[in-house]
Amino acid sequence: MQAELIAGALGAEIKGISLKDSSPENWKQINELMLEHKVLFFRDQNISPIEQINLAKRFGPLEKHVYVKGLDEYPEILRIKKGASEKHQWGETWHTDVSYNTNPTKVIILRSRKIPPVGGDTMFSNMQLAYETLDVDIKKKINGKKAIHSSLGASAFVDKYEEMEGNGNLDEYSNSHPIVRTHPETGKKILYVNSMYTKKIIGIEKNESDEILKEIFLHQERLDFTCRFKWTENAVALWDNRCTLHQGLTDFFPGRGLGHERIMDRIAIEGERPS
Ligand code: SIN
Repeated sequence: MQAELIAGALGAEIKGISLKDSSPENWKQINELMLEHKVLFFRDQNISPIEQINLAKRFGPLEKHVYVKGLDEYPEILRIKKGASEKHQWGETWHTDVSYNTNPTKVIILRSRKIPPVGGDTMFSNMQLAYETLDVDIKKKINGKKAIHSSLGASAFVDKYEEMEGNGNLDEYSNSHPIVRTHPETGKKILYVNSMYTKKIIGIEKNESDEILKEIFLHQERLDFTCRFKWTENAVALWDNRCTLHQGLTDFFPGRGLGHERIMDRIAIEGERPS
């Protein structure tokens, strides 16, 4: 097994591990690597839906997405699909998955099926580093505070994509979580807000809350906290959603990346309530 770092902040490409093997020993090694690097990349892993599900189940109970329909045969798998003429793709700005839920996602396993020749890389950002480097005055202001995360707009967001299918649910979900959470496995502090779903800091007047959140979003989206994965077919990205942000880059510019499909299979594992 070899782990090659792909950036200074986070992310490693792993060689010499087969994801077809979901034995407890193989999973333990993968989990340890994930805790160390936060996001792992594997190439040439032609895993079946069942193999992807079996590996995912080792991390914990699988999560059902509140808005997006799963595959008919494998409801645990959500197919992220950008049609050939679509300019947008799902998950296209910085976020951490479903932070509006009570128990937001723990881990995501994303497997590529069809990849455009150019465009649609996925980016990740390290929220442990973002917390460690946060301005001391902001740290004081958010100390012990919670923020409201809301799915407002997220169901409409699904409808915006031609190939992604909603499950008919239009309810809004909202939960408050600590702005600084502690990672349940590593014990490290993590900045736990994101510009897609975090709306307001509880106990601070709206204008001031907007100002603080704006500063935090700018900080946490710094490029030096990130890594970027250029997909190939049958590649897998496996990440710790508790301590990272991610986005699928929407660089499908006319004359360059348009005119190609992008198809990914995503499985999410349910996490614990952030504390
Ligand atoms: C996501 O936000 O989960 C999707 C990322 C991607 O498709 O690259």
